[in-house]
Amino acid sequence: MCGIVGYIGDKNVYPILINGLKRLEYRGYDSAGISILKDEIQVYKKQGKVKDLEKFVSDKDVTGTIGIGHTRWATHGEPSDVNAHPHTSENGHFVLIHNGIIENYATLKNKLTKRGYSFYSETDTEVLANLIEYIYLKGKVSAEIAIRLALTKVIGAYGLVILCKDEPDKLIAARKGSPLVIGIGENEYFLASDATPIVEYTKSVVYLNNDDVAIIKKNELVLKTVSNDTLVPKVQQLDLEIGMMEKNGYDHFMLKEIFEQPRSIENTFRGRIASDLKSLHLGGLYNVMPRLIEAKRIIIIGCGTSWHAGLVGEYLFEDLARLPVEVEYASEFRYRNPLITKDDVVIAISQSGETADTLAAIQLAKEAGALVLGICNVVGSSIPRETDAGVYTHAGPEIGVASTKAFTAQVTVLALMSILIGRKRGLLSDEVFFQLIREMNQIPAKLEYLLTFNDQYKKIAEMYKEANNFLYLGRGYFFPVALEGALKLKEISYIHAEGYPAAEMKHGPIALIDQNMPVVVIAAKDKSYNKIVSNIQEVKARNGIVIAIVTEGDTVIKSMADHVLEIPKCDEKLVSLLAVVPLQLLSYHIAVMRGCNVDQPRNLAKSVTVE
Ligand code: G6P
Repeated sequence: MCGIVGYIGDKNVYPILINGLKRLEYRGYDSAGISILKDEIQVYKKQGKVKDLEKFVSDKDVTGTIGIGHTRWATHGEPSDVNAHPHTSENGHFVLIHNGIIENYATLKNKLTKRGYSFYSETDTEVLANLIEYIYLKGKVSAEIAIRLALTKVIGAYGLVILCKDEPDKLIAARKGSPLVIGIGENEYFLASDATPIVEYTKSVVYLNNDDVAIIKKNELVLKTVSNDTLVPKVQQLDLEIGMMEKNGYDHFMLKEIFEQPRSIENTFRGRIASDLKSLHLGGLYNVMPRLIEAKRIIIIGCGTSWHAGLVGEYLFEDLARLPVEVEYASEFRYRNPLITKDDVVIAISQSGETADTLAAIQLAKEAGALVLGICNVVGSSIPRETDAGVYTHAGPEIGVASTKAFTAQVTVLALMSILIGRKRGLLSDEVFFQLIREMNQIPAKLEYLLTFNDQYKKIAEMYKEANNFLYLGRGYFFPVALEGALKLKEISYIHAEGYPAAEMKHGPIALIDQNMPVVVIAAKDKSYNKIVSNIQEVKARNGIVIAIVTEGDTVIKSMADHVLEIPKCDEKLVSLLAVVPLQLLSYHIAVMRGCNVDQPRNLAKSVTVE
């Protein structure tokens, strides 16, 4: 969602802002803008892409060494030049960019209107700009005090960076709910909503916490709370390389990330599987292991693809650790009245570590006294900081909006956790335990092999790229894979697709099947193999087109399906890590052939920081 970038120092700010905004494009946005403070504050903003903004400013004065930039994903008010950020207060004293939602903006707007303020946009952000200015002018206080006072009146979430024309030596930033990170250079500071625009300049960063306010001059960083308590900034080092954020010769980030999976899965289990393949260590869970072993129930929460990984986790924890598991959409869970006890373990899964609904669900679980764990990819993000303990997926930056390597990394962590807990609960013999570790260790090589069949997936994509609907069917571990396959297709190709448990097909979707309906059936060998064979026959009996994912050497399904895509033999508990890959590539190729923007699909955001 909205992306923020800021700079103060001696360098020319414009290229820093534009490059930063380009780095943030992956988050999803509909308009972009910058503001540069020289003698006056110049604001340039445009609906559309960052390149439209570049074109727009090509004949403007963009010199200066202090500035802010923003990519907007519309919440209040449609995408337009006017609603784009930065927003300027009525008398021009303040210009600000904002990520998040001011929930009481209507009340604040009413009060400000009564005091003579008028508004040019439909945004909640402009209300905040005017509220700050009102307090500043009325109270005759400094910009910092006006901002802190204004924030005490705000209900909602924000990541903010503010320029004040009367105090041109500083940027003021504040965070509640929406992430902000400050990069520390020499006589310069960078600001961004995540580390991607910063890493090419510095690796020393400070993550803002909720209610922090940063007053940043080019050679000084002062950190306070909204209520004016001084804080000591905690400087951390980024574990990111600039090359991780480049396409490295691939046409799209999504394709690069699909092909990275053998390595990213290996990175997920590196140092966690012992080199003799006889033991497992999850350092992040060490202190909470006694509570985990004694847990009465596991509740997994997440959104989108992370929720699908959670479903695989449900089967893994049931099978290997014999623990009851519930998997919940964070957005539903947070607004229900869920029964959570101190004996529950809540596992929040999130690639970004910033999803607003997941963060809110974590809060609920913490208040109920449950042990709350995180499985996240982005190091230093909010969820790992809000949870009691957790495991990073270490898949590296995922830039494509459609999640691919994050999913397989999440499933890898869930598998490692369930194997470890099952073992510690005394449920897995040496033989089973060692075998599972060996199987996991072989996944990268099997995936490497699987990826050599890319051209085959491309051929199938060519045949069905014009379809209007797709159905994805799977049973057991393959049901979440079916959901994930369908999600990938609809996200990036805009073809309607549904994932279904194969047996449930008879209770509805079977009515949709005709000679035009491609049905992707995940049918590798597992304990329900014979049942899925019957489901394939049911589809064929209605003239549906069957594209089956099968175990190498399967001749039974080959004789009845229209197309088979083979995957290597693998323990059924881990096979979702393989089976999902042909589905990712099938969606990718279909989307490319349909001319879709694969890395930045319409309306979607990579990191959903508003509810
Ligand atoms: C967005 C992304 C999805 C992602 C979901 C959850 O919808 O486009 O790819 O699965 O958010 O995000 P998270 O960062 O919490 O895994």
